[in-house]
Amino acid sequence: MGVAKRTVSRLFYGYRRVNERGLARAVTGKTVLVTGASHGIGRATARKLAAAGAHVVLVARSQHHLDDLAAEITADGGAAIALRTNLTDFDEVDNLTKYVRDEFGRVDILVSNAGKSVRRAIHDSYDRFHEHQSLININYLGPVKLTLGLLPLMRAHGGGLLVNVATFATRLPPWPRWAGYQASKSAFDIWLRGTVAELRQDGIRLATVYPGFVDTRMSAPTAHLRRLPPLHLDDAANLVCAAIVRGRGNIGPRWIPLIDGAAGLCQDIASRVATTAHRHMA
Ligand SMILES: NC(=O)c1ccc[n+]([C@@H]2O[C@H](COP(=O)([O-])OP(=O)(O)OC[C@H]3O[C@@H](n4cnc5c(N)ncnc54)[C@H](OP(=O)(O)O)[C@@H]3O)[C@@H](O)[C@H]2O)c1
Repeated sequence: MGVAKRTVSRLFYGYRRVNERGLARAVTGKTVLVTGASHGIGRATARKLAAAGAHVVLVARSQHHLDDLAAEITADGGAAIALRTNLTDFDEVDNLTKYVRDEFGRVDILVSNAGKSVRRAIHDSYDRFHEHQSLININYLGPVKLTLGLLPLMRAHGGGLLVNVATFATRLPPWPRWAGYQASKSAFDIWLRGTVAELRQDGIRLATVYPGFVDTRMSAPTAHLRRLPPLHLDDAANLVCAAIVRGRGNIGPRWIPLIDGAAGLCQDIASRVATTAHRHMA
């Protein structure tokens, strides 16, 4: 990707320079579990975290990709272990949780990154209910199951950081052809935000990343949609690392708060109109 295109994508989707010292302070000697570490954003993030001193636990289904990454990290002097897990097989998620508890005794940071996307017209979806099941399993239920399994371990050690790699699509209005993806990613985003609101006194924090289109295996089939150049993989991994350094809050395109503000204002006006209408009709 040329410099001009990369600059445009950074301006539109957001860019954070990672403070290397801050990242090392945040992760050195910590156990960091990264889901979806075999490809794309998860893989690039895991490499950066390991280089900064984290002990990374690499999770995905493709054993050989995980093994290759673990070998690369250890060859560079880092610490990594590959634990093949299908997050949509809830027994496998239980086994993963048990292994982490028994072997490491703790997990300090959980990066929930594994996911899949589907873009399909509803007229082509009538006989594809399985696609919706698969989206909700990998984008919502699997991550919920893993978080539920690891939270007690985090609490027992005085806290931890949950990092959610969501998508900027969850902050946009419902979009044609993306309903299943947006719904499943929004479900986990909302579940986590509600859950963490209960856990402040336990030292559990949440940092959410809302990446735009990133140049990965997942976004490749939607290349024709890209009016703007996609975010470079390295820039996306930097967003996740910046979220870890900051340790809370949201990271994504800088125009998201404007959309939130406009949506909030519209909802407020709509609710006032509804209340007035209800009063006059009662
Ligand atoms: N690319 C984008 O434009 C974009 C934009 C916004 C947000 N995101 C989000 O970023 C995250 C990473 O996406 P990406 O673009 O890096 O996609 P990717 O290159 O396709 O990587 C997805 C990762 O998830 C893993 N995964 C998928 N199903 C799994 C399962 N059942 N169990 C365990 N692991 C599973 C994959 O590993 P295996 O296949 O080896 O299991 C892979 O490592 C996703 O949550 C996505 O929603 C992506």
